[in-house]
Amino acid sequence: MKQISTFEEYKAEYKRSVEQPEQFWSEVAEDFEWKKKWNTVLDGNFEQVNIKWFDGAELNITENCLDRNLKEKGNQTAIIWEPNDPNEKFRTLTYKELHAEVCRFANALKNLGVNKGDRICIYMPMIPEGAIAMLACARIGAIHSVVFAGFSAASLIDRINDSQCSFVITADAVYRGEKKIELKKIVDEALLQTPSIKNCIVFNHRDSAIEMKPERDLWWKDLVKDASAEHAAGSMNAEDPLFILYTSGSTGKPKGVLHTTAGYMVYVGYTFKNVFNYKEGEVFCCTADIGWVTGHSYLVYGPLLNGATTIMFEGTPAYPDHGRFWDMIDKHRVNIFYTAPTAIRSLQAHGNEIFKNKNLSSLRVLGTVGEPINEEAWHWYNENVGKSNCPIVDTWWQTETGGVLISPIANVTPLKPSFATLPMPGVQPVLMNGDGEEISGNGVEGNLCIKFPWPGMARTVFGDHERFRQTYFSTYKGYYFTGDGCKRDEDGYYRITGRVDDVINVSGHRIGTGEVEDAIDEHNVVVESAVVGFPHDIKGQGIYAFVICDKKVDDDEVLRKEIREHVSKVIGAFARPDKIQIVKGLPKTRSGKIMRRILRKIAEGDTSNLGDTTTLLDPAVVDEIKAGAV
Ligand code: PRX
Repeated sequence: MKQISTFEEYKAEYKRSVEQPEQFWSEVAEDFEWKKKWNTVLDGNFEQVNIKWFDGAELNITENCLDRNLKEKGNQTAIIWEPNDPNEKFRTLTYKELHAEVCRFANALKNLGVNKGDRICIYMPMIPEGAIAMLACARIGAIHSVVFAGFSAASLIDRINDSQCSFVITADAVYRGEKKIELKKIVDEALLQTPSIKNCIVFNHRDSAIEMKPERDLWWKDLVKDASAEHAAGSMNAEDPLFILYTSGSTGKPKGVLHTTAGYMVYVGYTFKNVFNYKEGEVFCCTADIGWVTGHSYLVYGPLLNGATTIMFEGTPAYPDHGRFWDMIDKHRVNIFYTAPTAIRSLQAHGNEIFKNKNLSSLRVLGTVGEPINEEAWHWYNENVGKSNCPIVDTWWQTETGGVLISPIANVTPLKPSFATLPMPGVQPVLMNGDGEEISGNGVEGNLCIKFPWPGMARTVFGDHERFRQTYFSTYKGYYFTGDGCKRDEDGYYRITGRVDDVINVSGHRIGTGEVEDAIDEHNVVVESAVVGFPHDIKGQGIYAFVICDKKVDDDEVLRKEIREHVSKVIGAFARPDKIQIVKGLPKTRSGKIMRRILRKIAEGDTSNLGDTTTLLDPAVVDEIKAGAV
């Protein structure tokens, strides 16, 4: 696959990709294996919201990830599994072994009656079987919907029911640090309310005592025991769905963002190779969970499409101590390391001791993703981890974009700390002003939109194309609106400033404030709540909840604890509010709209200038909230 090697070349490629996008992407696509080539490269536009890439083509993405690598890389390691407990032996799977496992599981799914287009929920820990399940689905054309294993039973219910999954694949249990998470028990609870599920497939990971419901529950190992290690990959159309991934927005329940086969493959394969400047034979380590898009695109699909060795890490950066990442890099001689700013900030506080006796000399490229990286964390990462010798690629993208859109290309783009820098070839970012017009020139700031389709973009929201159109294409007609604010500096470099909608980014987890409010409002003494983000040293943003109760609560502390536990139960522990303030009223306009701007300021601790409060129904509320801020 083509790799950009100089900044001049990047500029030329970029120019070409904008002037002749179809020519550009068809050349990239030539590097993949197709059962049948495309009739057209790009169809549709952002006005109609009817994008198709490589229409008419037929392919199977797993043939590109696996079969294609068998001949020359059959015995090369495809996946290294690093367990939670460093004393446990790590596991490796060669391309040949991974291919055989995927084929076996694909055959097993077929034998159970899984068909092309069926939705399969994957609720798995970070073990190779998670990736095997994804690839097996793709092999037969079933649509995987991976749900992060930190989500609660209630969240699992919503996701399974929304896309009407017919199977769920899980494991008995998993340890994260010292904490045991009983996955099968959570699934059992969910399955009481998911009528579409026929079977639950369970991988025995920890020999944990679980209940297997006869007929419904099946052991993974029994299914693959006699299954053939050969499977002729199904032929998919370019626009056949590959996966659904739920993500949060400003309003309503999380959306099932849908990605299709050919465009996603081409975009993710191309960006993996270029963003990270990946070289043959390198070991790539992405610390994201497969439950998020980063895990999909740059832990599973991107590396395998390039025949790389990819690491799957089951544990946490702080277990058994804060040197765990560096231990792993040393042990597996990692060349490219990709993590989130929140992880960097959480380790930064632990001094240089955490690097003692760790040999990081294998590192060549570092990456970050998920949230803006502050300059201090950037420099710490650069100096302590990269030894000022590894480029840092600050990759900006989203679940909906499928792959990286704005990022330096390692060893090519001159870097600037905290800047995602420049768009990838084929990506046309623009900044919009309040009047819905493009802002020209440099040294400007606005809302980030993309004005031309790229192959990796989501095609729809599962079962609700109108919601897709409304969410992403209605704010600025003819543009994809990202929901992010952004600056373009004098050099034309992009710096993402954060969400401009009601989405908050907590430790790189995207959470809709409305979702947290709905969860809080379910508590029996709560009348109403308003949730905003506030700057948090480690998490990037923390969650601040203002809550009105219907009766006098004796002990605010008990109530806060209950609310936190309730949010944990409804969404997952990662969405628990950091701060809860019990208030008598909320700042509302006469039409009943909560003025979040004021709440954000109070949560930030910046109450000197709250702006115009004269339109409020009851301006006195603001003083009361200010006085009680936590
Ligand atoms: O606000 C941006 C932030 O994360 C959002 C997307 O979240 P999600 O769909 O969960 O995907 C995360 C992983 C791709 C974006 O709208 N974001 C992501 N990467 C960056 C970022 N903000 C600043 N800099 C980044 N590099």
